Amino acid sequence: MKTRIMELFDIQVPIQCGGMLWLAIPELAAAISNAGAMGNLTSGNYNTGDEFRAAIDKTRELTDKPFIVNITTMPSIRLPVELLREFFKVSCERKVKALEIAGAPVDTFLGPEYIPMAKEAGVKVLHKVGTVKHAVHAQKVGYDAVTIAGFEEGGFPHKDNVSTMVLVPRVVESVDIPVMAAGGMVDGKTLAAALVLGADGMMMATRFLATQDCRVHPNIHKVLIERNETETALGLKKLLANFGLQVRALRNDIVRRIEEIEERDGDFSELFPLISGERARQVWQDGHAEEALLTVGQSVGRIQDIPTVAELIDRIVSEAEAVLRESLGRVTAAV
Ligand SMILES: Cc1cc2nc3c(=O)[nH]c(=O)nc-3n(C[C@H](O)[C@H](O)[C@H](O)COP(=O)(O)O)c2cc1C
Repeated sequence: MKTRIMELFDIQVPIQCGGMLWLAIPELAAAISNAGAMGNLTSGNYNTGDEFRAAIDKTRELTDKPFIVNITTMPSIRLPVELLREFFKVSCERKVKALEIAGAPVDTFLGPEYIPMAKEAGVKVLHKVGTVKHAVHAQKVGYDAVTIAGFEEGGFPHKDNVSTMVLVPRVVESVDIPVMAAGGMVDGKTLAAALVLGADGMMMATRFLATQDCRVHPNIHKVLIERNETETALGLKKLLANFGLQVRALRNDIVRRIEEIEERDGDFSELFPLISGERARQVWQDGHAEEALLTVGQSVGRIQDIPTVAELIDRIVSEAEAVLRESLGRVTAAV
């Protein structure tokens, strides 16, 4: 395999891990990068520029391969804009390979000087978007690549509810920069589909959550295997409407309570304790899967085991090659 994203990121397989608050930490990032894909170090895990700098250095002790830093550019009480600016500056100072910006565009949210700052430092900047319009904007203001995420994705899909199947070719036809496909990506079949739709690779997060290298309680992994594709929910539609977003999470007791509060137009003070990141952080570790908002995508329905990252990446690449060959065989046999 050889795609533009592999050249841009200097990776051996066209697979990237998406940002994962509390989970995309140095150990997981390094496991993914060591397997030839693009590991993700999520800056939102850290409370200061120094803590984040130490995390970059730790990742570099665990791998000499490239990894990407996620900066989630959404209004947050814990992560004020000034801290996000510092994460960006530290990433440039440490010359990480690439930045994954998720949320508002850097040029408007952090300032017009930030993309030029990354270019000066030789850091590639990718924008994860949920609409064609935002992908076109990213190309216009100088991003090096985009990830287009369909509303199947875990996390914060766009409120337009458009699927990966429709968005990927739309974006591929609308921009010239490399495009990563996200939302529902889990295996060789979905990698092959992403490539056939014109993408340069795939980004996934829910599937990386379901690996032995992702340090969560064993019960979380058990739940991921048990749940099917109908067992996630879209929520926080009112709270996130101004940002054009919503959340996709595992359907559980907390999601049902959130739905009930939103339906009766309850106050933010009621929602806040349910959606706090600290609550999710604890549940990833204690395994009580009903007790926090756990961002998980519809791809949970396609997860049946908990391999190591290295096994997963190997399996995805050989399956993608096999299904592409097999599909081509079917096409040529029919002609
Ligand atoms: C556990 C988990 C945590 C996530 N945290 C973040 C985050 O902090 N920032 C972000 O931009 N996206 C976050 N996401 C979204 C992913 O980066 C990615 O866009 C999405 O999960 C891809 O779709 P998939 O779930 O079908 O693989 C998270 C997703 C998961 C599953």
